[in-house]
Amino acid sequence: MDVFGNPVAVGGDFLRAAAIDAAHELGIFARLAAAPATLDELARAAGVGTGHRRLRALCDVLAAIGAITRPAPRVARFAAASSTPPRAGVPRAGWGQLADVIRADRALPPEEGDVALRYQRHLAVAGADAARELAPLLGRGPLLDLGCGLGTYSAAFLDATPGASATLCDRPDIVALAGAELARHRDRVRLVAGDARTAPVGAGHGAVLLANVLHLHDERVGAELCLTAARAVADDGVVVIKDLRVDEDRGGPLEGLLFALNMAVYTDGGDVYPVTQLRTWLTSAGLPAIEERRLAAAPDGVVLFARRGSRTAVPA
Ligand SMILES: C[S@@+](CC[C@H](N)C(=O)[O-])C[C@H]1O[C@@H](n2cnc3c(N)ncnc32)[C@H](O)[C@@H]1O
Repeated sequence: MDVFGNPVAVGGDFLRAAAIDAAHELGIFARLAAAPATLDELARAAGVGTGHRRLRALCDVLAAIGAITRPAPRVARFAAASSTPPRAGVPRAGWGQLADVIRADRALPPEEGDVALRYQRHLAVAGADAARELAPLLGRGPLLDLGCGLGTYSAAFLDATPGASATLCDRPDIVALAGAELARHRDRVRLVAGDARTAPVGAGHGAVLLANVLHLHDERVGAELCLTAARAVADDGVVVIKDLRVDEDRGGPLEGLLFALNMAVYTDGGDVYPVTQLRTWLTSAGLPAIEERRLAAAPDGVVLFARRGSRTAVPA
């Protein structure tokens, strides 16, 4: 399995099975059979020493699939379900190591090379329809695409917006691939290699896009990326976040919760954030005028359009 795998792409049934096996291994079902427990109590029973983010992501998924229950919405306290699902016996690789990852509170190492490239290609295909739907909502540009991947969103924007230009920023190896993908738009494309927070991405862009980037990071980096976007956008421009979505009470949708668990397995601090968190980052970055939309092509995601508004200045 592709270790960065999109949960939907690798099959929700496999991910559910891995979550159930991990819950058996961590003693979650046994602990809840005795009495309801808070996340802290489950962590103690499971031998999870430090952070509980990964355990929380597992419990969110277990509750969403009915393997355990959450008696009070928004509260990290769980109880047994009417029946406990049996072990599925998933192989001990990738998500099959979920219990170890949660106990150690340490992500599996990221894949490089072919696997990472296959993941980027998968994203480009999976995101093409959403990119085409979003393109006309990005204005006339110029566009700044932070964490561009293979440039799917920039390509759709340039295809849909004659004469507009785009700046794409990502790691050097990735942005080089994006350049090759966008060869047909060569004269309208600028490539910037490096961490978007420090790379010379310029200022005055009509639209700055963070598409499927924030879920890779912890809250500190998420806030910094929003600040980067706010500093790079024109006074009358728009910062656009497109990402996976989870409800405020983390009760669903299942795709978002599975993806959050995926981030718990493969990233140091990644998560799928509720919209209130995204709004907080944008507002703190000086972009308080926020409009929320959904894309028909990505119903489990969310798109936020954020502008400066008249009274708030972007911090220098
Ligand atoms: C999941 S991919 C999404 C790619 C593309 N935006 C899309 O939706 O198809 C996330 C990309 O963001 C890049 N990325 C994450 N953090 C970044 C940062 N701080 N600076 C530059 N690129 C970053 C990653 O290297 C990766 O290519």
